[in-house]
Amino acid sequence: MTPPLVSIEALSASSVREGGTPVLRDVSLTLERGEVRGLVGESGAGKSTIAKALLGILPETIRITGGWLRFEGRDLLTMPSGELRAMRGRDITLIPQDPQTALNPARTIEAQLTDGLRMKLGLRGTALHARAIELLEEVQIREPDRVLRSYPHQLSGGMRQRILIAAAFAPGPKLVVADEPTTALDVTVQKEILRLMRRMQERHGTAVIFVTHDLGVVAKVCDSVTLLYAGKVIEAGTTADVIERPQHAYTKALIAAGPRYDRPGQGLEPVPEAIFRQLRAELAGTAAKGAP
Ligand SMILES: Nc1ncnc2c1ncn2[C@@H]1O[C@H](COP(=O)(O)OP(=O)(O)OP(=O)(O)O)[C@@H](O)[C@H]1O
Ligand SMILES: [Mg+2]
Repeated sequence: MTPPLVSIEALSASSVREGGTPVLRDVSLTLERGEVRGLVGESGAGKSTIAKALLGILPETIRITGGWLRFEGRDLLTMPSGELRAMRGRDITLIPQDPQTALNPARTIEAQLTDGLRMKLGLRGTALHARAIELLEEVQIREPDRVLRSYPHQLSGGMRQRILIAAAFAPGPKLVVADEPTTALDVTVQKEILRLMRRMQERHGTAVIFVTHDLGVVAKVCDSVTLLYAGKVIEAGTTADVIERPQHAYTKALIAAGPRYDRPGQGLEPVPEAIFRQLRAELAGTAAKGAP
């Protein structure tokens, strides 16, 4: 039997910076080939920690304290660092949150885009240039020649994000980790970028972990969803099940709050304080269970 593409089992982590505060608490999830899974939760829920663990780029101040993280059945936590490096940027790639800081301001788009193609795909010379043009066309950038000669500051945020999406799909990865890829963009551009993400994913059959605050985004682009609160999985399932038949009171409250639940005053109905009390009580329950 082939193992799932990603299998996270009872993964726990804590923050050294915050005196050993748990950051992930027994998180489990699986991702099949070609599946798009939303990772949802408010700020500090642990979404980026999971994303970074998959890419093997956790900061030293976050320690894994238990559990397993497997990619095609191979344990990422104990994999030699050279192997992990080779896998990162080829089998697993990242679309970062902020297209502004993710690109080097001092280098042209072509120089940055072709770095990866040279290293991971071994392309050189005119083949390299031709592939860069093709990639920009695939993400629907007009005048790709001009864009390749440009520096990041000469392009809009949406254009920069298209370039980062092109770069992430370029090596033909099995998994793309997208960490809030549309948060920094304005609403109309967000919509275009979401459509582009979905089209690229479908065309390449790539699995995606899609980190977002927004259940509305999940409904548009994800097959399945895992909802986190303070590092704990609160609810998980297919998008249709979770959105149409939420089980946990927190999920129900988030759906009632509408897509902007994370922005105080902009949600339809704020999540009631009683639900946060319930969540905290549940966390205390897991902590007690996990204690020796
Ligand atoms: N570099 C770090 N070192 C130690 N602890 C960290 C570090 N970065 C984040 N943390 C802690 O880990 C927890 C989870 O952070 P994480 O970045 O995974 O949350 P998130 O769900 O991605 O939030 P956001 O929506 O704000 O991006 C937080 O409590 C945070 O304080
Ligand atoms: Mg984050």
